[in-house]
Amino acid sequence: MVKINNNYLKLQGSYLFSTIGKKVNAFIVENPDKKVIRLGIGDVTRPLTPTITKALHDAVDEMGKAETFRGYAPDLGYDFLRKAIADNDYKLRGCDIQADEIFVSDGAKCDSGNIQEIFAQDNRIAVCDPVYPVYVDSNIMAGRGGTYSEKTEGFTDIIYMPCLSENDFAPQIPEEVPDIIYLCFPNNPTGAVIGKDELQKWVDYANEKGSVIIYDAAYEAYIRTEGVPHSIYECKGAKTCAIELHSFSKNAGFTGVRLGYTVVPKELKRDGVSLHSLWARRHSTKYNGAPYIVQRAGEAVYSQEGKKEIAGLVDYYMRNAEYILNGLRGAGYTVSGGVDAPYIWLKTPKGMTSWEFFDHLLNTANVVGTPGSGFGPHGEGYFRLTAFGSYENTVEAVDRIKVV
Ligand code: MLT
Repeated sequence: MVKINNNYLKLQGSYLFSTIGKKVNAFIVENPDKKVIRLGIGDVTRPLTPTITKALHDAVDEMGKAETFRGYAPDLGYDFLRKAIADNDYKLRGCDIQADEIFVSDGAKCDSGNIQEIFAQDNRIAVCDPVYPVYVDSNIMAGRGGTYSEKTEGFTDIIYMPCLSENDFAPQIPEEVPDIIYLCFPNNPTGAVIGKDELQKWVDYANEKGSVIIYDAAYEAYIRTEGVPHSIYECKGAKTCAIELHSFSKNAGFTGVRLGYTVVPKELKRDGVSLHSLWARRHSTKYNGAPYIVQRAGEAVYSQEGKKEIAGLVDYYMRNAEYILNGLRGAGYTVSGGVDAPYIWLKTPKGMTSWEFFDHLLNTANVVGTPGSGFGPHGEGYFRLTAFGSYENTVEAVDRIKVV
């Protein structure tokens, strides 16, 4: 008889955002007259910009004509997009990343869950705590979690790096040496960033110990502060220890379009094996390439007009972030993030747990956020709000929160 992957049974509850979605839907069914404002999942609300919409239309037209129709996309991505990424996201920043080190995909979520497949099962992973749940869950599914401990509310084989207000929500190098280190800056969920010197320490550490850093740069477009790195490849030596994940979701509004990419430098080797070759093998075996029309839309993101429009989207959401930060701070909340990131991390008031505050806000202000504890044990007592709502809804939500 078939045997299932028992590791799945170790997962705690359902995926965080599915749990929240179910709770909110139940509330709406019971309270059909209430206007619920969702500042929970980091899903964008602004429409695609004109340059991107045009690129999509044009590509659809090409697909509708025999002369310009395209079948399967190249599995690692079209050259036009890989080159646009290399030129704009790397060369312009002084990073030496070549087009053929870029693997185009349907989004950073899939890549962040899949990348662990090229590593052996007995690697130890280290994650920030709190953390984007996909890194942890995908490793548990692969058998790298050990057992769940009720006492620590964590997995025995995972190294958790607490990110607390005392350390500005930045992880410290752990005592035990991890094989794989997940870092995400600007951070989801705390909205924290680290400077280049700090990131350089991680790069040096990983090179010294032979670890690999999986660096999630999904929110880099939100960086405003000078000196905060947009890419780990701004650090010396990162090409021999780091893989970088990128998304088009948060900068260009592609959450429903789906496009992302992963950089695996050719110099990155472990056990004498090129991780670039392994990921290329995995990608070409399991993936048929992001759709042509979507990759053309991705290319448009890097056009002059596209860049201006994207900057406008980011500005729009950052105005929301500022409103949330100032509004809640003025109302006496302890808040952080929201300066170089679209997430605001707030301390729950009156000692409420994260889920108690979730219920309280939903019931009294009809506002949805994300409980910090859903991101890990050190997220307990915190709550995340996203700046990805409409400005009007954001203002209304903050004004409601202030008076409950
Ligand atoms: C989040 O809310 O943390 C993100 O939207 C999740 C994601 O990007 O998959």
